[in-house]
Amino acid sequence: MIVHVKDQLPGPKSREYLALSDQYEARCINQQAPIVWERGDGVVVTDVDGNTYIDFTSGVLVTNVGHSHPKHVKAIQEAAAKLLNCYDFPTPDRVTLAKRLVELMPEHLNKAFLLTTGSEATEAAMRVAKRYTGRHEMLSFYGGFHGRTFGAMSMAGKMGTKKRFGPLMPGCIYAPFPYCFRCPFKKKPETCGLFCLEFLDTVVSVESTGDLAALIIEPYQGGAGFIFPPEGYLKKLETWAKERDVLFILDEVQASFGRTGKMFALEWEDLRPNMLCLGKGIGSGVPTAALMAESRIMASLSPGEMSSTTGGNPLSCAAALAVLDIMEEERLPDNALKVGDYLFRRLKKLSEEVTVLGDVRGRGLVIGLEFVTDKKTLEPSAEITVEVVNRCCQSGLLVGRVGIYGNVIRVAPPLVITETEAEEAADILEKVIKGIK
Ligand SMILES: Cc1ncc(COP(=O)(O)O)c(C=O)c1O
Repeated sequence: MIVHVKDQLPGPKSREYLALSDQYEARCINQQAPIVWERGDGVVVTDVDGNTYIDFTSGVLVTNVGHSHPKHVKAIQEAAAKLLNCYDFPTPDRVTLAKRLVELMPEHLNKAFLLTTGSEATEAAMRVAKRYTGRHEMLSFYGGFHGRTFGAMSMAGKMGTKKRFGPLMPGCIYAPFPYCFRCPFKKKPETCGLFCLEFLDTVVSVESTGDLAALIIEPYQGGAGFIFPPEGYLKKLETWAKERDVLFILDEVQASFGRTGKMFALEWEDLRPNMLCLGKGIGSGVPTAALMAESRIMASLSPGEMSSTTGGNPLSCAAALAVLDIMEEERLPDNALKVGDYLFRRLKKLSEEVTVLGDVRGRGLVIGLEFVTDKKTLEPSAEITVEVVNRCCQSGLLVGRVGIYGNVIRVAPPLVITETEAEEAADILEKVIKGIK
């Protein structure tokens, strides 16, 4: 047994730090459950009171290679002892990382621009798209999330992300995303013929001034609640964009580095985006991000027109190179598929046995559990979801809550998870969900 929770949470030391947090930290950040993390090892997190938990959050889908993987840690320690900053000067690791990323991409994505956060990557993609096309409008999707910086936030398809931060960037256009469990057109995926894709032309003809530069989309919507579009949708969307001379930007900030069971989510449908945004798992905890693009597109910017002080810093590059090595050596995308399949089957079965679990969906180690008050009305229940998060934590399992209605639990452990660890975690989840009245 991995899990060991001594008493009612939060423990005494956690309480102390939580009080300090209340006093000194800005309240704009989220607190999922009332504990204070001290250390991590693989899929296990230990809090400051010595309680141990299985981590199904990966710290918002970041720690793909597991907490404090020895090879990752060693690379970081060695890099820190050697060189921490270089800014305008290339280093062997920076150049090597760019090369390795390009080699992993579809052939046309042959340039890497290294950055530090996912928002920077999506923001950069939009800037490059504007410059390359000479047009200013951007199309994004209901429920979409692309970061918190101004341009990225403006493309959010969820009011919560942009509420009272207006006016937004000019030229934002939004279209319905295929959230088939709650289809905005009240259609069924088996018979709709991808009506939402057909509807895109209507959206553009109404909202655009005829100056559409690009569209940006996630391969599955993360913040909206792990919503996967139906098979074939993304490839058809790519074709739609190409036929209209609109750049196709794929935001894989949380979907890549093995998370869905492939190194990159674009591999599932052999997508060919003009730009690809990477983040989170690439550094597995060390702030790292990248924009991958076609050279003809990147060439629209001259030297010095875009930069980031810590983008491509030696520490991040060493960490990302270690991540790539670990991914390959330990075949983590394959493990994500294998353990993901086990978890998916168990959770799907569970959803048939309880009334509160309306939908189980996902791929690899991205599984969303959508909670409802009633399976007929499908009324979302944020209250039940909060209850599940808290009870899971008390039982030694850390899960995060997301979703347009705040009613989705993320099952997203580090990709190093074994089937035995997954079994222990699934037992907890099952017991907690069955205990909800
Ligand atoms: C799809 C997607 N894009 C962009 C971002 C922004 O990344 P960051 O928080 O590193 O700026 C996120 C973060 O959650 C994300 O999920």
